[in-house]
Amino acid sequence: MSKPRLEGKVALVTGAASGIGKEAVRLFAENGAFVVVADVQDELAHQVVASIGSEKVTYHHCDVRDEKQVEETVSYTLEKYGSLDVLFSNAGIIGPLTGILEFDIEGFDNTMATNVRGVAATIKHAARAMVARKIRGSIICTTSVAASLGGAGPHAYTTSKHALVGLVRSACSELGAYGIRVNCISPFGIATPLSCTAYNLEPSEVEANSCALSNLKGIVLKASHIAEAALFLASDESAYISGHNLAVDGGFTVVNHSFSAF
Ligand SMILES: NC(=O)c1ccc[n+]([C@@H]2O[C@H](COP(=O)([O-])OP(=O)(O)OC[C@H]3O[C@@H](n4cnc5c(N)ncnc54)[C@H](O)[C@@H]3O)[C@@H](O)[C@H]2O)c1
Repeated sequence: MSKPRLEGKVALVTGAASGIGKEAVRLFAENGAFVVVADVQDELAHQVVASIGSEKVTYHHCDVRDEKQVEETVSYTLEKYGSLDVLFSNAGIIGPLTGILEFDIEGFDNTMATNVRGVAATIKHAARAMVARKIRGSIICTTSVAASLGGAGPHAYTTSKHALVGLVRSACSELGAYGIRVNCISPFGIATPLSCTAYNLEPSEVEANSCALSNLKGIVLKASHIAEAALFLASDESAYISGHNLAVDGGFTVVNHSFSAF
């Protein structure tokens, strides 16, 4: 038997009550990690903990828009498990769907506060804990194909995810000196509450839409595929990978879909 890929490591996952975060918590715990589930949806988060087992996973309420809550969540993680090796800063919202001519500026601010400022706060406090304890940690953020393309998401969302790639690269440049890696994952469209609620679609409809637009055929992208990518970036298997934007998009962002030579 090979050793579990995150044996003895401590991970903090934001946006962990649902979708991609929930799958990552399950996979990290299966691979030997102790995990703190951070989210604003208390009831769902408690269900995640109950389904995995409270000896490996615990919940701490955290609205990433509030830096104090982020700081407290990092402190809670350190008190509970004595370390912080992995931050999966995954919480995000789709934000307003309005066009630029009717742009919802307040909704834009809230999207940036969640998807960018919130992630920055988690990186700040997790990295402080890692630096203070000389932990060669791994920080992973969830961006999107909308981080590389216009038109792959609403305006505020696209702006926030582009900014997040910049934050990841910038943080990587400073934290490399401490042996801390910072990467992000850019998923293509997945049926989660985020996408289903925003477009008022059933999961099967979101998946059908994604499959119709996808480059890689014959496979339906699931939250578990993103969790597998996060596990790789969290583990020592990616020991020299930092500043990378790992697209889990079946090639969607490197193919010109309006032109085909074949
Ligand atoms: N579903 C997709 O198609 C898709 C594609 C690309 C990227 N993403 C990104 O994946 C990440 C996870 O989204 P998902 O698809 O799993 O959606 P989801 O709605 O299932 O999960 C997002 C979680 O984030 C939490 N959250 C929202 N605001 C928060 C806040 N202020 N503080 C703490 N937690 C908060 C929500 O409560 C929820 O549990 C997001 O960053 C999203 O932008 C999703």
